Amino acid sequence: MPTPHISAQPGDFAERVLMPGDPLRAKFIAERFLERPRQVTAVRNMLGFTGEFRGKPVSVLGHGMGIPSVSIYATELVKFYGVRSLVRVGSCGALRPDIALRDVIIAQAAGTDSNVNRTRCHGYDLPAVADFDLLRACVDVARARALRVHVGTVWSSDLFYAPPSPLFDRLESLGVLAVEMEVAGLYGVAAEYHCRALAILTVSDHLRREEALSSDERERSFETMVELALATEG
Ligand code: HPA
Repeated sequence: MPTPHISAQPGDFAERVLMPGDPLRAKFIAERFLERPRQVTAVRNMLGFTGEFRGKPVSVLGHGMGIPSVSIYATELVKFYGVRSLVRVGSCGALRPDIALRDVIIAQAAGTDSNVNRTRCHGYDLPAVADFDLLRACVDVARARALRVHVGTVWSSDLFYAPPSPLFDRLESLGVLAVEMEVAGLYGVAAEYHCRALAILTVSDHLRREEALSSDERERSFETMVELALATEG
């Protein structure tokens, strides 16, 4: 039965779904990394595919930009399609000086300026945390591959174009590694529906040094991160 935002049938999605923001990246992942990929949804051009990786079923679906968008797709996957594990593969802007472009950030937890998790929790904070087994498995693979990887807290912001503010100084002094726009929403959905979630992020820009990857460099580091996500079986 199709849902409002996904036109697949029951059984079309694997229990494990990789989620990039951009639907064309979902297509790229399916065609480049999955065996026998088939398209299972395209509502609003938010492309989704299912195939196999090393003989096991895996799906990939774009989640769009921002917490409301990722929350819609993640919720429909777990509520209506039997999905049990959601892994976001995305980009982020680094805050700390010891983090370089192309480094990988594994989001152990996320703070946010969004109200979604307070809405879920009667006005109080809900800890937005990664699934421990996925987190541990991902860190093990990343270290075995000698990737430059940081594990810690990220900040999910509703505004990409935020007004000038001392907030970044404060977040950095509180140990936040990087800023992006979806993880707190994804982890909130996972808490609500008792599924597993993890976010793996490539540093595409540095918010303190005004550095950014070129589009070629983004593509190469994206592939490294997808390989890491696919090898994470926690
Ligand atoms: N802000 C929010 N999201 C991002 C950024 C950023 O600077 N870089 C990559 N994703």
